[in-house]
Amino acid sequence: MKILATVEDIKAYSKEMKEAGKVIGLVPTMGALHEGHLTLMRTAKKAADVVIASVFVNPTQFGPNEDFDAYPRQFEADCEKLRSVGVDAVFHPAPQDMYPEGYCTYVNVEGEFTKKLCGGQRPGHFRGVATVVTKLINLARADKAFFGQKDAQQVTVIRRFVDDLNIPVEINMVPIVREDNGLARSSRNAYLSEEEKKAALILSASLAKAHKAYDEGERDVETIKKIVVDSLNTEPMSVIDYVELYSFPALEEIKTVEKASLLAIAVRIGKTRLIDNLILGE
Ligand code: PAJ
Repeated sequence: MKILATVEDIKAYSKEMKEAGKVIGLVPTMGALHEGHLTLMRTAKKAADVVIASVFVNPTQFGPNEDFDAYPRQFEADCEKLRSVGVDAVFHPAPQDMYPEGYCTYVNVEGEFTKKLCGGQRPGHFRGVATVVTKLINLARADKAFFGQKDAQQVTVIRRFVDDLNIPVEINMVPIVREDNGLARSSRNAYLSEEEKKAALILSASLAKAHKAYDEGERDVETIKKIVVDSLNTEPMSVIDYVELYSFPALEEIKTVEKASLLAIAVRIGKTRLIDNLILGE
């Protein structure tokens, strides 16, 4: 596996691959890799000739009071995992290489949907995500890029700017990968104590209750949201940030679930903010 440590390295690598006629797949990550990330890599391997993963804790998508400094960084262990699934190259730049002095260009997706869910609670977050993903797609000269449903709103934002800016890349969404007990895999799970890990099971359990109600015929948005809120509130350690149900991928307000809709939750367990979601009505 090639280690591409600089912007110049990745430019040279992707030029070579393009000239050899390879289909390039890109999987952007912030590292601290787990099975969720590795599933994206395996999906990319099947769909592309060459897979470039990026490991970059992107400063522009973190708010001033968020966990940029504390975010787990374990590049050596990440490389081992990437090698084990056959990733061809990993791009691991320094922040000052991606954002050198004088840097002043950002991709700002302005749709109402960016102000909902995590966008409402993390101002500037999607501006940072859209900016870095644009740069990564350009640097990798990616034909295809792969993202997880775990961050479903992120997928909506990325699809929107790729379309609006006519970027010639195919965006693929991969389902959420969970632990056997239902907990959605996340790099931030590493922050949880054993007790908090048990409490965190309330997220997937609450979504499962909503899924059951949906399967039994419930379609009313307020009723489905209430099932989730009531269930989350049975766990004393959980503090709800949001429980929302919107159309997907547009993220528009709905009163009943008629077609694909995103039931998305953000919950704090202790100091850790966790997100999870479920797509109903597909
Ligand atoms: P990160 O949180 O590292 O996630 C990288 C990719 O892995 C994202 O597309 C995310 O949705 C996916 N992912 C994470 N957990 C998953 C799970 N349990 N199942 C399936 N996919 C999962 O998302 C980011 O980084 C950043 O915002 C990034 C896109 C890299 C831009 O900086």
